Amino acid sequence: MRNITIAIDGYSSTGKSTVAKQLADWLGYVYVDSGAMYRAVTLFAMQNGLISENHFDKETLIEMLGEISLHFTRDEEKGIAEIYLNDKNVEKEIRTLEVSEFVSPIAAVSEVRKKLVEQQQQMGKDKGVVMDGRDIGTVVFPYAELKIFMNASPDERAKRRYLELIDRGDKVSYDEVLANVKERDHIDTTRKDSPLKKADDAIEIDNSEMNLDDQFHIILQLAKDRMAGRV
Ligand code: DC
Repeated sequence: MRNITIAIDGYSSTGKSTVAKQLADWLGYVYVDSGAMYRAVTLFAMQNGLISENHFDKETLIEMLGEISLHFTRDEEKGIAEIYLNDKNVEKEIRTLEVSEFVSPIAAVSEVRKKLVEQQQQMGKDKGVVMDGRDIGTVVFPYAELKIFMNASPDERAKRRYLELIDRGDKVSYDEVLANVKERDHIDTTRKDSPLKKADDAIEIDNSEMNLDDQFHIILQLAKDRMAGRV
């Protein structure tokens, strides 16, 4: 069996990271959550006063990009790779609704994308990687052996994200979360640099009505076929 690259793209809260983690664990591959990297840059901008209610200081962020160092370290107990911003674990801080509200405009900045895409390509250079995001099959790994494009209705996705946030103890309303999901869809698909779109050779999976187990087994079989060189 050969090692392959698996790219999982799609809209927010389609369960990309859940299935990507399951696959990486099962195959013994490295899992990279590229969205966490854009979220960590957003947190950096917030911590440095570069973001206010409806404005962010793009020029200063670009000047400060050299001060941002990101890496993942696997927490063996939890069995997941957690993200560190300048050597501080920020895994929990990057998942707030506040970060979600600012992340899409920051992810639209070409200089930010260039820096993170280079790091992502470096992390996947030896294959044996599952990476999820928005531009993995189109820009980061255009030659990935398996590309999946995940989709689900905005209502279903907002419901999932709302339950996740409530579970963490965040005080949010369903309407707020739905508005954020729709706003991010809009910015992610219409930005100039690397907009979210299905790669021509990606396999689309709508999981609005699918359970996690079925979804995992469908994608695992697709991966096995490619690892065995059957496709
Ligand atoms: O997957 P997520 O919701 O954690 O991603 C957060 C944001 O980061 C999302 O709104 C778009 C952006 N993103 C991106 O532009 N490119 C990626 N490869 C991953 C995420």
